[in-house]
Amino acid sequence: MKHFSSEIISWYLQNKRDLPWRNTNDAYLIWLSEIILQQTRVDQGMSYYLKFAEHFPTVKHLANADNDLVMKLWQGLGYYSRARNLHAAAKTIHTTYKGTFPDSYEAILSLKGVGDYTAAAIASFAFNKPHAVVDGNVYRVLSRVFGIETPIDSAAGKKEFYKLANELIDKKKPALHNQAIMEFGALQCKPVNPACPACPLNANCFAFAKKLVDVLPVKEKKTKVRNRYFNYFVFNHKGTIALHKRIGKDIWTNLHDFPLIETSEALTEEQLLRSSEWKKMMGKSTFVVKSISTTYKHILSHQKIYARFIEIVCKNPLKNNLPKDLIIIKESDIHKYAVPRLVDLYLEKRKSVSVN
Ligand code: ADE
Repeated sequence: MKHFSSEIISWYLQNKRDLPWRNTNDAYLIWLSEIILQQTRVDQGMSYYLKFAEHFPTVKHLANADNDLVMKLWQGLGYYSRARNLHAAAKTIHTTYKGTFPDSYEAILSLKGVGDYTAAAIASFAFNKPHAVVDGNVYRVLSRVFGIETPIDSAAGKKEFYKLANELIDKKKPALHNQAIMEFGALQCKPVNPACPACPLNANCFAFAKKLVDVLPVKEKKTKVRNRYFNYFVFNHKGTIALHKRIGKDIWTNLHDFPLIETSEALTEEQLLRSSEWKKMMGKSTFVVKSISTTYKHILSHQKIYARFIEIVCKNPLKNNLPKDLIIIKESDIHKYAVPRLVDLYLEKRKSVSVN
């Protein structure tokens, strides 16, 4: 084959998408795009990128921003620790590096929330340094073209792919090479139904020749997925509502949701209202169950959340009968709080029902 790198670069120049973070070499904007794109696909990530770039055009703007605003803008992307790390790293760049994005791979890697992949992406895209990116796209392309069967989630696999990727990179055009291989993985060498008959590498592709396209790349471990049932209680009293601020190490830290009874199985309404958690939560207060929502599903890499929202009308003022980590707010202020996507979906539905 023509050299691997020149093949994918020619393909890229003819097929690439025009994406805003590719038209800049501002390391800050590139970093922003990479952190967002770790979390979501390009089509959904675009609006988040544009929103962040508009609110925080420079690292200084982000460093000085209110954390609640950063979390609010991130809302819907999930894995909120990424947003917290983004904000913390912006502060580090602002103070330690006096607002200038560091240009060495090691310094970039030391920023909070930046791993090998992101450091290589920033070092190459912004500073044209010859560090190969190795993400899911790259694992897929290399395993198929070169017939590597070492599991990509093993230590040996990581080392092997990393070494090969760094041998293949065009040292004179690292930015172009890295963009090209990732775009090639995203558009051409796709996980399912890749466009092999029209692929410029098919004459030299191990997986295509051996009919192993559906087998490669190999993964060692099946991810264990835990089911979690979130029984949310939406306590209402005369235009006020109880919100719960999520503190601690579980998902959605610093976001708001509602008072919750979590179970490892789906419970009926009767089972819930008979549970000791419920009795503890309510004490002697009187209430009416107004409605129970359908189940909202939220799938993460290691857990599936099944949430139901149970609307409760309380006869007593909320302040007297709820645990300490709750805040009581005016119902009309709820949009001011950053909430998980699943809660947002419920609130949207709730609003449309109450308007009709
Ligand atoms: N995914 C991660 N980084 C990307 C980039 N720079 N362009 C397109 N998709 C990406």
